[in-house]
Amino acid sequence: MDLYEYQAKDLFAAHGVPVLPGDVASTPEEARAIAEKLGQTVVIKSQVKTGGRGKAGGVKLADDPADAQTKAEAILGLDIKGHITRKVLVTVASDIAEEYYFSFLLDRTNRTFLAMASAEGGMEIEQLAVERPEALAKVPVDAIKGVDLAKAKEIVTAGKFPEAIADQAAEVVVKLWEAFVGEDATLVEVNPLVRDPQDKIIALDGKVTLDENAGFRHPAHADLVDQDAEDPLEAAAKAKDLNYVKLDGEVGIIGNGAGLVMSTLDVVAYAGEKHNGVKPANFLDIGGGASAEVMANGLSIILGDTDVKSVFVNVFGGITSCDAVANGIVSALDILGDKATKPLVVRLDGNNVEEGRRILAEADHPLVTVVDTMDNAADKAAELAAGA
Ligand SMILES: Nc1ncnc2c1ncn2[C@@H]1O[C@H](COP(=O)(O)OP(=O)(O)OP(=O)(O)O)[C@@H](O)[C@H]1O
Ligand SMILES: [Mg+2]
Repeated sequence: MDLYEYQAKDLFAAHGVPVLPGDVASTPEEARAIAEKLGQTVVIKSQVKTGGRGKAGGVKLADDPADAQTKAEAILGLDIKGHITRKVLVTVASDIAEEYYFSFLLDRTNRTFLAMASAEGGMEIEQLAVERPEALAKVPVDAIKGVDLAKAKEIVTAGKFPEAIADQAAEVVVKLWEAFVGEDATLVEVNPLVRDPQDKIIALDGKVTLDENAGFRHPAHADLVDQDAEDPLEAAAKAKDLNYVKLDGEVGIIGNGAGLVMSTLDVVAYAGEKHNGVKPANFLDIGGGASAEVMANGLSIILGDTDVKSVFVNVFGGITSCDAVANGIVSALDILGDKATKPLVVRLDGNNVEEGRRILAEADHPLVTVVDTMDNAADKAAELAAGA
């Protein structure tokens, strides 16, 4: 889960990373009130989960509260790379002597953590990494040893931070590491980390990605979820503990096991090429041991998607045998009643497949077509979606 800058800075502050005071506003009037309270020159910053806000006109100085209101009005609603600004951060403006770059991230390729640091921050770091890679230090961090002051000093020295502020920067780096580990983040990035004219080090920007798999350790993280931006179907699926991702096609997909569902997406996308270019409408893995209730929950989410024209249920019977799945489908359709309105193509294979198919044949539900192979079933589901 990616956080907004203001949320990232709240976490930073909780871990002792120096940030400037400020608050978030959804209207120009709120922005004005915050500016009044801060009582000095402020910066109005678009809160969107994408980079390059400054260049897009999403970061503006405001001299007084009236100006803050005007600037907030200009930034609220601003579209930055497809992200509409719904909130702005109103924060104290800082004089800047130098801008640095700093981040901790999970380096999946090397199975370790990585610290990245550069004395040349502020601008687009991706560009710096390509054009002058020597200016961006990359220092692996051992997960067990972590980052103490000595390690932090090694990192900022590698990033060529000036000697005068290296010790102070190292202290901030240790706190950023504490935030990274303490919050179970996979990314903590500060660009720019600034040195003000009094030689104080401050995080002027913040980007944090939290590891949702560790969410159970952090009940407070649930409050950071952006309800407005969340897809309503994905939210409903999450509430029912389903592994669901909304996609933009027309063929609803249900399968058991992430691998099977992934390959089902592939075969449906391939089959769709012959049928008006229809595509998978979602990823939904109902996992092993799928009960009728789980099947019904999954089906109701998918049928609630107005883009869906047909549904492909692709199940390989393992621990949960095909007859149990077939019974699940039949009772799910019972539970859903009139709410089940779209054709279902079912492909069963594996443990107890004959009995599973017999149950579906006997139920003889008008919406259900049973197809023997995955390819043929994908083709049928795509054809039904294209014809609808
Ligand atoms: N509180 C502040 N006071 C003074 N200048 C600021 C402040 N916040 C940001 N700036 C200036 O605006 C620039 C851009 O701000 P920021 O880094 O937050 O946004 P961005 O880099 O455009 O967005 P992103 O980091 O998402 O790409 C900074 O490099 C800094 O020069
Ligand atoms: Mg930035």
